[in-house]
Amino acid sequence: MKLALALTLLPLASGACPYLEAGGDPSTGSPHSLEARANFAAAVDEIDFAEVMADLKSRFVTSDPAWPADYGTYAPFFIRLAWHCSGSYRTSDGRGGCDGGRQRFDPERSWDNNTNLDKARGLLWDIKQKHGPGLSWGDLFVLAGTTAIESMGGPVLGFCAGRMDDADGSDSIPLGPNAEQQALAPCEVNGECEEPLGSTTVGLIYVNPEGPMGKPDPVVSGGQVRDTFLRMAMNDTETVALIGGGHAFGKTHGACPDGPGESPAENPTHPWAGNCGTGVGVDAFTSGFEGPWTTDPTSWDNEYFTNLLNYDWDVAKGPGGHYQWSANSTTAADSPVAPTADLADTQPIMMLTSDISLINDPDYKEIVADYAANPSNFDDAFAHAWYKLVSRDMGPITRCKGGEVPDAQPFQYPLPPTPAASSLPPVADVMSALKSHLSASPSSVPAFASLAFSCASTFRRTDFLGGCDGARVRMEPERSFPGNEGAEEVLRELEEIRSEFPNLSVADIIVLGGNAAIEAAGGDVGTVCIGRTDAPDGDLGSEYLFPRIAGNEDIDIAHLYDSIDLLGLTKMEFVALSGGHDLAQEGAWAVNPAKLSVGYFDRLLNLEWDGEAAPYTAVGADNEKLFATEVDMLVRVDAQLQAAAQALLQDEDLFKQQFGKAWGKLMQNDLFFSNEERAEL
Ligand code: HEM
Repeated sequence: MKLALALTLLPLASGACPYLEAGGDPSTGSPHSLEARANFAAAVDEIDFAEVMADLKSRFVTSDPAWPADYGTYAPFFIRLAWHCSGSYRTSDGRGGCDGGRQRFDPERSWDNNTNLDKARGLLWDIKQKHGPGLSWGDLFVLAGTTAIESMGGPVLGFCAGRMDDADGSDSIPLGPNAEQQALAPCEVNGECEEPLGSTTVGLIYVNPEGPMGKPDPVVSGGQVRDTFLRMAMNDTETVALIGGGHAFGKTHGACPDGPGESPAENPTHPWAGNCGTGVGVDAFTSGFEGPWTTDPTSWDNEYFTNLLNYDWDVAKGPGGHYQWSANSTTAADSPVAPTADLADTQPIMMLTSDISLINDPDYKEIVADYAANPSNFDDAFAHAWYKLVSRDMGPITRCKGGEVPDAQPFQYPLPPTPAASSLPPVADVMSALKSHLSASPSSVPAFASLAFSCASTFRRTDFLGGCDGARVRMEPERSFPGNEGAEEVLRELEEIRSEFPNLSVADIIVLGGNAAIEAAGGDVGTVCIGRTDAPDGDLGSEYLFPRIAGNEDIDIAHLYDSIDLLGLTKMEFVALSGGHDLAQEGAWAVNPAKLSVGYFDRLLNLEWDGEAAPYTAVGADNEKLFATEVDMLVRVDAQLQAAAQALLQDEDLFKQQFGKAWGKLMQNDLFFSNEERAEL
């Protein structure tokens, strides 16, 4: 594997970034505590990934009779494992992906698409155990797939380590199938599911391989392939490279029509026992299709594409009872065959309807022809698309660990490096300049607070996109997001203060401006961390981050809970932040001069509110007319949010403490490393 960029990360710095110091509340909303994350980070640094790769290569060729290796190697099996672990990622909310290693748990482990991957995970246990807690399951799955590609001669860009395992599968519950997923993202006809779901069929990674709703229609299948790969941000060239590169290897399994047996959810002790003969080896049933795509299924080449173009393909039911495609024996000059999985015989190659779709769609077909004629184009496209597939849910490159991390890729929306800490201005000086400005211009308090809030609240903990780092609020598409209408004017005001401090980024002045405003309004935001930088022109880091709460008058409680979770906040923290409505720039809740108080909760809980839908109205104590949004009303009526609002109303100290905690968390969610570490990257 190419060693593209060696990263020597320094030990966690003390002083530069209080967010990483002991004692703060640094949670990025991650399900893991700071202590667990720090311990894991230290343990990952101890892992010798080259040794893990050597262990994997020996695992590939050491066949276990309980689940014999096809063609004498498990390498293709592990590629499927890594692809299915990573391919659950969706841009709609950043959920899915292999970070967390949740394929070990329900719901993912029992998806039809993940049939028999329990065996692949079991085959890796010895390596996991040998290397210990610093080698997470998520990293091991991805490294197994990546090493497998490399071991069979495929092109590999590198490896981004640092996935931290989750304790359970709860973060995959919204992927379905279950009632919670139906509440959040209902799918009327399973097989025709739409965004925000990632696949056409809940329980499959992308599309039904047999064709839409099991109908072998390659034209409709092509549309579904494009649609669903786009939901993972893969364009046509990436999609074709990924499918053709993946199916350069291995085979489908469907020895007879009797199925794989019960899933882990149905039979945890003996899942997918296999109902054909011995159930293993040439008798295995996984998907119910049978055969490989190429004549040499353990070597990297572009034969998948030449096969698609060089043969006419006929559809018929295969031995597993599903429609699959075979090279037409009357037009094929020779009947292409590959060895059987036990190497004792030969069997014909095949294609799935989703494969055949690539020559029925004119745009896909052009790419197939290119990869058939120009193997180097294919190599380059596959190496990049695979790295993107398995790393995208990790977020910015600053989260990647290990010695095999390639240069930052476009999907990581790279930011300029943080200047050396010594060249950054002292935070105290900037804060004091901001506070003098605010005391001379108190009307800017709400404006500074709102801008910092909008800038930071794009963050989502699932794929670590968003936050104020990059100051993308200055540019499209974020500039036009609801809530950012007055941003340009406020930015001009902040720019005057920033001009006094060389090397201070726009992102940092926005955050510091927000913090100064909260303090001016009587809040306490604790210590402050800087070191953000500004995204270059053309950056698209906010392309998937359209706000879910701001301006959304149709939001229901399930989606509000989900949005709070994506922000990495507890319900109590979210409700406390809502108390900041008193700092609203204008309109119903504004208090003059801006002051952080429990007044919002008082009015929200105690006034009579009218209306069937937002804006809800009430008359305040001074006869002023008040307006409430749908979110305000959910805070008023939902049992859990209401309980938090009641607790905060009754205890102003608790409110200020929770508000400060939530604000600090929101502002610093986007910093994953200390300033010194970032400067090293
Ligand atoms: C195997 C479908 C994309 C890699 C399979 C199997 C099916 C399938 C049905 C057979 C499973 C079995 O019976 O063992 C699809 C569909 C895709 C897709 C519908 C998208 C439209 C990909 C991608 C990759 C990949 C993107 C990796 C980059 C593999 C590998 C195997 C496989 C390596 C062979 C596993 C083995 O030999 O055990 N795929 N696949 N597939 N797939 Fe895909």
